[in-house]
Amino acid sequence: MTVNSLMQAIADIGADPIRGGYSRPVYSDADLTLREWFISEAQTRGLDVETDHNGIIWAWWDRQASAGESVEATRRNSVVTGSHLDSVPGGGAFDGPLGVASALAALDELKAREQSGALKRRRCLAITVFPEEEGSRFGVACLGSRLMTGAITREKALNLRDSEGLSFGEVAADHGLTPDLIGEDPARLSTIGAFVELHVEQGRGINTPEYTAADGKQPAVAVGNTILGHGRWRLSVTGQGNHAGTTLMDDRADPMVAAAEITLATRNTAREHPGARATVGRLQPIPGGTNVIASRVDLWLDVRHPQDEVTATVVEKIYSRAKDCALAHGCQVEMVEESYSGTVHFSPELSSQLEAAVRRTVPDAPILPTGAGHDAGVLAAHVPSGMIYVRNPTGISHAPEESVENDDADQGVQALADALSGLLEAER
Ligand code: GLV
Ligand code: MN
Ligand code: MN
Repeated sequence: MTVNSLMQAIADIGADPIRGGYSRPVYSDADLTLREWFISEAQTRGLDVETDHNGIIWAWWDRQASAGESVEATRRNSVVTGSHLDSVPGGGAFDGPLGVASALAALDELKAREQSGALKRRRCLAITVFPEEEGSRFGVACLGSRLMTGAITREKALNLRDSEGLSFGEVAADHGLTPDLIGEDPARLSTIGAFVELHVEQGRGINTPEYTAADGKQPAVAVGNTILGHGRWRLSVTGQGNHAGTTLMDDRADPMVAAAEITLATRNTAREHPGARATVGRLQPIPGGTNVIASRVDLWLDVRHPQDEVTATVVEKIYSRAKDCALAHGCQVEMVEESYSGTVHFSPELSSQLEAAVRRTVPDAPILPTGAGHDAGVLAAHVPSGMIYVRNPTGISHAPEESVENDDADQGVQALADALSGLLEAER
């Protein structure tokens, strides 16, 4: 089956009529429908599907066991590929699902190669779906892979809350997970010998004059080398809730005004540090009425830079300026870190294997850094991990305009199949 027909099959799931694009928060109806779709596609292909203690779905294409060898033993040191199915609010169609659909399409290709004798497998292959990669429901991105690797503790994860006040522990239990078993899972992690994630390119990495040929063509895919360090912080600005009509302008302690100035200070601070990106993309006034001066405003800060010390400096400066902004409006501000991931350098050995394999399909595939976070980045601290990006002609992501052309997606599948094939034939 082609990756484009797989993507077509899920094109209506979670379409958001208000924001545009897709809203597929983890464990929402849309996300659950996508998870069922994946399980059914995997089972149709004869894969052995299981959901682990952290809600990660694993679909196994097992290898032949030798005499007396257990299934667990065959699955150690496997080749694993996959991505996520949840989305940001109003996100694009490809961020996550392209990697999952491409993995299924690559499997079809690998099965055909095995049948024709062109692939001699020594290792199992698993396709994974990681839950809450975006952190758009519980606030911490890559929650599934962070839990498996121990990058977040069970206690902290169980107490994360969504915007309705439901805890991750409650929601996970409602979806069949056992809260006491959620968390670090070294046995599971040891099944991964190499992890490869295919993903839509999320900026203008490929789509630049540097990689555009004289005839206007750009390479369909690229190989990843680094992920920018990034984190999230919550700033709570408190003032005095009051009546919009009776409170004179000079008598206010309005945290919304302070929040507006903090947003500007965020932009200005990032501009003082080349390469830094800082964003306030979410802001919540409490109680949130048109004729009510808010008593509190929460705003969420996303800061990224290749050097972890610069990220720390940018965050400290923003916090210090936020305190001044709050004070100037008779308010106070508190900041807490919600998550942080340092800059990731993917395994040079795996990356050069990916590079060689990908360049069989796309000879001019570039090697690119990315500013976007991925489960492959979390796994990279524990197992050799790497990424393949598919060209995005708009260069836009986390928005409905995110795009991938069919021919590029097909080349992405070829490149992924070649990369997986080489890894499956290797001893380790
Ligand atoms: C996820 O896509 C992120 O980079 O925040
Ligand atoms: Mn994303
Ligand atoms: Mn993604």
